[in-house]
Amino acid sequence: MKIPVAVLITGSGSNLQSIIDQTEAGTLPVRICCVISNKPDAFGLERARKHDIPAVCIASSGKTRDEHEKEIIAVLESHGAELVVLAGYMRLLSSVLLERFKGRVINIHPALLPSFPGTHGYEDAWNYGVKVSGCTVHFVDEGCDTGAIILQVVNPIEPDDTLETFRQRGLAIEHQALPEAIRLYCTDRLRIDGRRVVVEPDPAESTGRTGCTG
Ligand code: GRF
Repeated sequence: MKIPVAVLITGSGSNLQSIIDQTEAGTLPVRICCVISNKPDAFGLERARKHDIPAVCIASSGKTRDEHEKEIIAVLESHGAELVVLAGYMRLLSSVLLERFKGRVINIHPALLPSFPGTHGYEDAWNYGVKVSGCTVHFVDEGCDTGAIILQVVNPIEPDDTLETFRQRGLAIEHQALPEAIRLYCTDRLRIDGRRVVVEPDPAESTGRTGCTG
């Protein structure tokens, strides 16, 4: 059975789209069980509905963080979510949700953490003048982009880049990195060892030979 994955968004949802596309192409063996936005006008909600994925807005305005997260948990549980993927979800999560889904929440960040955490990864890296940036997929803890790192992919800055070309190339990289991290999680290849996330070898790529030669 395919693992039910919930995706939380706030805006455009291009990363959500990459997950949808890979599930439909059969290269990502999961089922998107629901999409939740904290903004009613998030385009990602339309993307989900177009693919018959349950999509709901749970607005945060007028609620405490705990109240808001309890509502999210109710929806996640009603859809049987086993993994929660933050794909451009622009709110910090508290222990209310993180305890309920302990070790089962991942996020994509558009910079090479621990550099440039926060909401403006592309702008901050660009304005700093770095020569190499990239994206990071990590487990989520209560800090701002501080959880254990699953994978990172680099995005070198080219001499003729503008912030926009840098961002567009970066997004294309994100669209491969996030599904890859979900694939690793859902095929049980991630082991957390303190701050380090060990990626176990793909059994399908092993030769099946045992023993060793000298
Ligand atoms: C991405 O750059 C993601 O890394 C960041 O927010 C952006 C969301 O883009 N957290 P989209 O909504 O997936 O298009």
